[in-house]
Amino acid sequence: MSLKDKEKWNQKYQASEYTSNKVPSEWLAENSDLLTGKGMALDIACGEGRNAVYAASLGYEVLGIDISEAGIQKTQARAKEEKLSVDTLITDLDDFEFTENVFDLVLCFNFLDRRLFPGIQKTLKPGGLVFYETFNLDHLKYTSFKREWVLEYNELLEQFKNFRVLRYREMDRDENGFASIIARKMED
Ligand SMILES: C[S@@+](CC[C@H](N)C(=O)[O-])C[C@H]1O[C@@H](n2cnc3c(N)ncnc32)[C@H](O)[C@@H]1O
Repeated sequence: MSLKDKEKWNQKYQASEYTSNKVPSEWLAENSDLLTGKGMALDIACGEGRNAVYAASLGYEVLGIDISEAGIQKTQARAKEEKLSVDTLITDLDDFEFTENVFDLVLCFNFLDRRLFPGIQKTLKPGGLVFYETFNLDHLKYTSFKREWVLEYNELLEQFKNFRVLRYREMDRDENGFASIIARKMED
């Protein structure tokens, strides 16, 4: 990622209170029946921490990673407000080494770097869950995003074809086009 992008996110997070009103993603909250709250969770590109803090509130030991110092500061402030603890790491995901079989839950919302899919699959423990949601091709009708920044149709199904897909949707709603998946890493 370029320094310019990092600065863009820092400025965005510094400028406003909380861009997402601190509310966890709908896909995460509405499917919380699948979340045991036990073990370790990783939130990739956690931003201001809405989902990391939500996972911590359910009982997970959470690590949130983001390139933006301002985002991570807000994640920490938000966790403190809720009297919860979230570990955080400011890093460029380009340089992040995924360790094998560590996490029970991996979250990734509104962020797409296709090079990370193998790492996500590796770092989940067998039986662990991934919740992934980001923009898809439908979103190009509403933004000037480049095609490579959005998911192809059915792409998450393809990326997680070695996992057991528990829930999946593609939505074109309120000028947002996106896909969401919950999938479980197969037990050996
Ligand atoms: C649209 S925000 C999503 C934040 C959060 N997942 C959410 O849904 O609220 C995208 C996030 O990706 C982070 N990001 C972008 N490129 C990154 C990179 N190369 N490494 C780590 N974080 C990155 C940005 O700082 C930003 O917080």
